[in-house]
Amino acid sequence: MEHYGLQTAAGHLTVSAESKEPYAAEHLAQLRADAELVVARYPQKRSALLPLLHLVQSVDGYVTGRGIDFCAEVLDLTRAEVSGVATFYTQYKRHPNGEYTVGVCTNTLCAIMGGDEIWESVSEHLGVGHDETTADGKVTLERIECNAACDYAPVVMANWEFFDNQTPESTNQLVDDLRAGAAVKPTRGANSVCTFKQMSRVLAGFPDGRADEGVGAGPASLRGLEVAHANNWTAPAGADADEGAGSGTAHADTAASPSGEQVEGRAAGRHTSVNTPTNEPDEKPGGAPAKDSRKDDAPKEEGK
Ligand code: FES
Repeated sequence: MEHYGLQTAAGHLTVSAESKEPYAAEHLAQLRADAELVVARYPQKRSALLPLLHLVQSVDGYVTGRGIDFCAEVLDLTRAEVSGVATFYTQYKRHPNGEYTVGVCTNTLCAIMGGDEIWESVSEHLGVGHDETTADGKVTLERIECNAACDYAPVVMANWEFFDNQTPESTNQLVDDLRAGAAVKPTRGANSVCTFKQMSRVLAGFPDGRADEGVGAGPASLRGLEVAHANNWTAPAGADADEGAGSGTAHADTAASPSGEQVEGRAAGRHTSVNTPTNEPDEKPGGAPAKDSRKDDAPKEEGK
């Protein structure tokens, strides 16, 4: 089934005929058991589609045709609905992915800090372009957008682990080490880089125990906090704090909701996480109107 390298743009939108071969019985049994755990986390089972697509990638290495069939069957969706999601997000691969996805951030800040040079260098070094995989199946190279790590620009990711303040030379060394099977250590976060399939299983919601390894926020990320502490700066009080310090009269944010109930602390039409209307379990788009949980969950007055 493997056909690394030489992928074309057309290959990004299709899955090969081989990918529709049925799962072996033991793989299917494990997939069903794992999927049951994932689906149980959501009030509506279709909400489990994103983690289930990661689960498929943890087994197949990309979103296969049989994986799409599996998600559709488990979640009671059409294959078109599953495909529509799988083709929307770039983390879902529509052809075999390498063991390591190496992403070079070429968004604005990283680009001007050297990301463009890193991209040119490592692309030439590996002989592959965007979303292409080395012939040994080890590295899939990607241009990626901002990873919220601009304070360490230019940033390179390997299976979503951070490699900060990179250079063309350090990035070429990184991909060489990954291809050679040498241990590499991210500059923040976990102490090692797992495989694409292992990483996909974590994204499906099965922790591997490495989440608390390594440095979380480094000095550059904490610089603003240090300046604030040195100057005794504090965050402005929010609207909720204002309400507590009021004169005893009703605050403008305490008002009747659209359905008429008094929703304390919120202006009409605004919702908190506890009174946001929810849908019925497994309600389909275009189906019955969403249940208005405010009617059930709004605070009741004493004695009523
Ligand atoms: S622009 Fe590269 S991490 Fe933000």
